[in-house]
Amino acid sequence: MQIKRLSNQAADALLILLREEDTSLSSFSGLIDDKLRDFIVSLISRKDFTGKKGSLVKLPLFDSQYKNLYLIGLGKKEKCDINLIRDSLAWGFRKIGRERNKTASVILKNLSSCKELALTLGEAAGLCSYVFDKYKTKDENYEPFALTEIYSDSYDEKEISTGLKLADAQIFAREIINEPGCAVWPAVLAEKAEELAKKYNLGCEVWDENKLKAERMGGVLAVGSGSKNPPRFIHLTYKPENPVKKIAFVGKGITFDSGGLDIKPENFMTTMKGDKTGACNVLGIMKGVAELGLNVEVHGFMSVAENMPSGSAYKPDDIITARNGKTIEINNTDAEGRLVLADALCMASEIKPDAIIDMATLTGACMVALGKWRAGLFVNDEELCEKISEASNRRGELLWRLPIDDENIAETLKSPYADLINCGNRYGGAIFAAMFLKEFVDKNIAWAHLDIAGPDTKDKEYGVYSKGASAFGVRTCLDYLINS
Ligand code: BES
Ligand code: MN
Ligand code: ZN
Repeated sequence: MQIKRLSNQAADALLILLREEDTSLSSFSGLIDDKLRDFIVSLISRKDFTGKKGSLVKLPLFDSQYKNLYLIGLGKKEKCDINLIRDSLAWGFRKIGRERNKTASVILKNLSSCKELALTLGEAAGLCSYVFDKYKTKDENYEPFALTEIYSDSYDEKEISTGLKLADAQIFAREIINEPGCAVWPAVLAEKAEELAKKYNLGCEVWDENKLKAERMGGVLAVGSGSKNPPRFIHLTYKPENPVKKIAFVGKGITFDSGGLDIKPENFMTTMKGDKTGACNVLGIMKGVAELGLNVEVHGFMSVAENMPSGSAYKPDDIITARNGKTIEINNTDAEGRLVLADALCMASEIKPDAIIDMATLTGACMVALGKWRAGLFVNDEELCEKISEASNRRGELLWRLPIDDENIAETLKSPYADLINCGNRYGGAIFAAMFLKEFVDKNIAWAHLDIAGPDTKDKEYGVYSKGASAFGVRTCLDYLINS
């Protein structure tokens, strides 16, 4: 998508976002001609357009430099924040692009500061056109997304370019997550990491099953043992000359989660191609970091395996040993994410970064607790908590903090036969999983765990989300890096 400064160009569409209080449009003079402004003001005074949140008025225009007018309501001024603006922009652009408009002007004056708006405009413009439809046959009724150029009064070249790069990074992750298990298995994900590394000159190490054994990666090996597609561990490195910080990202990469021998029931297995989101998000972040040229040393660790039942699969009652030597009794093979993450968190701790952030579609329990629009945040350091929360609020990827120091739940992590058990009881499942992960993180390192199971797969499109993978967390992590 091309974004240019608004300078009275002709365009197929004119998009205006208005709050209920925006009735006089006095700030629009000079941006649109007076005749058009009077027309919009009369639509408002006749209550044909009320500015109600989610309302849309679309009209064809005649004798104008625009063919179509789109007015979108943002609701009450006091409730209108940057996240609503981003969602509304993406929604508007999506509609405009689907209705054969190739170019659109958008006026955002007075909604917020130009800098903030420009970045958000870049995100919305970058994310609006994405759909996963590569496997659908395009018949004669198929209409490609038409919108290719946007002109805006909120123009700041650098901020817009940052916004577009955040969007690209998230789409890069979505593209891989949306691929089904028959197209992406551990070795394929490793190839994608290698391609990325080649393109951006990143350090890249891929460990196959033999190396995993030699390196005592007992968690990844156990989870991957049931599949004919062996597991992989991937380490990507971005290293600028004089970095101000060293940050490690860790991703759960289960290319398909059948549950293993504790097989998932009917209706719980679909969408489990999305269980590789954490790892794909890490790939997206690495791409974003390189595109933005950030002055931070960034490491991406991805544990990738396919969780399948078979004669060679790991079993309930097995006792396995993770990389740091801790032993784990398996009482549920469907609690596999924490096992692959255990090894990866040990690896991340070994390089002694300033902070570790892991992302995982880890527990259904987190989705039950927080719903499908918010991810769980578990963090052992107040400063990191604040920085990540601020980034997530700016980017509209909402988090909610949950505890990782519950002494009663800590008791339930104990096994009579090993150091730990991998699965607790029904209650507090997201906290149990986070506290399990804590056992593999160096206590002196600031660490945050994002349980993104809830917002992972979107049932329908809305705002910046298309149906399917959301790659929730990519923009938040990049924002955190930009501001750290
Ligand atoms: N990948 C799932 C969690 C999940 C569920 C992600 C729904 C996205 C949507 C994870 O591996 C899993 O199976 N978790 C179990 C844990 C249980 C066995 C302790 C769960 O949540 O039911
Ligand atoms: Mn599982
Ligand atoms: Zn899983």
